[in-house]
Amino acid sequence: MKIKSLELEDVRSVEWNEESNSLQLIDQRLIPFRISFVQLSSVEEISSAIKQMVVRGAPAIGATAAYGVVQAIKEIEHESYNNKKEKLESKLEILLKSRPTAVDLSNFALEVYHIALESEFSFDDSLERAHQLTNEMVEECKQIGKIGSKLIQDGDTILTHCNAGPMATVDYGTALAPIFEAKKQGKNFKVLVDETRPRLQGAKITAWELDQEDVNHKIIPDSAAAFLMSRGQINKVILGADRCLRDGTISNKIGTLSVAISAKHFGIPFYSTFPWSTIDMKSESFNDFEIEYRDEKEVKYVTSFEEEMLIANPTSSALNPAFDITPHELIKGYITSKGVLTQDQLQKEIMKK
Ligand code: MRU
Repeated sequence: MKIKSLELEDVRSVEWNEESNSLQLIDQRLIPFRISFVQLSSVEEISSAIKQMVVRGAPAIGATAAYGVVQAIKEIEHESYNNKKEKLESKLEILLKSRPTAVDLSNFALEVYHIALESEFSFDDSLERAHQLTNEMVEECKQIGKIGSKLIQDGDTILTHCNAGPMATVDYGTALAPIFEAKKQGKNFKVLVDETRPRLQGAKITAWELDQEDVNHKIIPDSAAAFLMSRGQINKVILGADRCLRDGTISNKIGTLSVAISAKHFGIPFYSTFPWSTIDMKSESFNDFEIEYRDEKEVKYVTSFEEEMLIANPTSSALNPAFDITPHELIKGYITSKGVLTQDQLQKEIMKK
């Protein structure tokens, strides 16, 4: 993606820095106030960056975990051959426990782990696999942009939720990729951005990313979406997913379910978009994976830049589920690198995998 203020055209939110031979992230907690790159030099630091949401967004944390396994290989270099597997497994475990809901994390990490075992813990082979997985996913996002842009017409007002832009996917984005592509094609449309309480990924990151590409947009309170739909002021919904089950059920940022129910009620097409690393091949139902609950502090405080401010009654406690589950019946289509798919078509494509 480009960053106007730094006059940078080609920036990735997650990247292996060849010079320092370590993982480099953009600190997404500081966007839009400051663009800051951080270098991580241990598996613990990488896991903590995922937990603290220095890096966030399903495919971006997948790529981070892939490079986390590469970092683990570096750390076991001087272990005896017999110790290496055990040490690697415990470091993998640290990465897998970082955040539970986005399946990209385990999908990416396990792929690199298997290559590490097959190649007798080769750093080069593991790094190459992490690059390959990341680049394939970014390429998919580019395809999603081209395919999804066909859904966008002049005069549209598109609602998006949370952040499924370049920061969340290393580059291009999922939900934002079709929007950027449609803008490039000269289409005339607007985007409404749910602020996405409590961490405000919409108001902070999505709005900033749209701004970088001069896309016409406005931030709205999450609770305004249904009203605006009822007034005919939203005619499409495009958002991402953190996990998609084989039947097309998705888990995405908290608030997605309310948007989907409202869209169904008002007859507005609701699209979810993701790369194949977001497909959960194992879970039979939403009871088989964990919905992350985060610290109540995120609800009671707002954070602007580095300053925190209490905005709730101090003695009340808060509940903070970070994701919800949207059944496939509420989803009109899935924008993927294989096309805009119905639930049936998505299932058939998943079966081929
Ligand atoms: O908690 P986050 O910010 O990691 O949640 C991210 C989302 O829910 C995004 O919408 C999702 O990852 C879509 S993927 C591009």
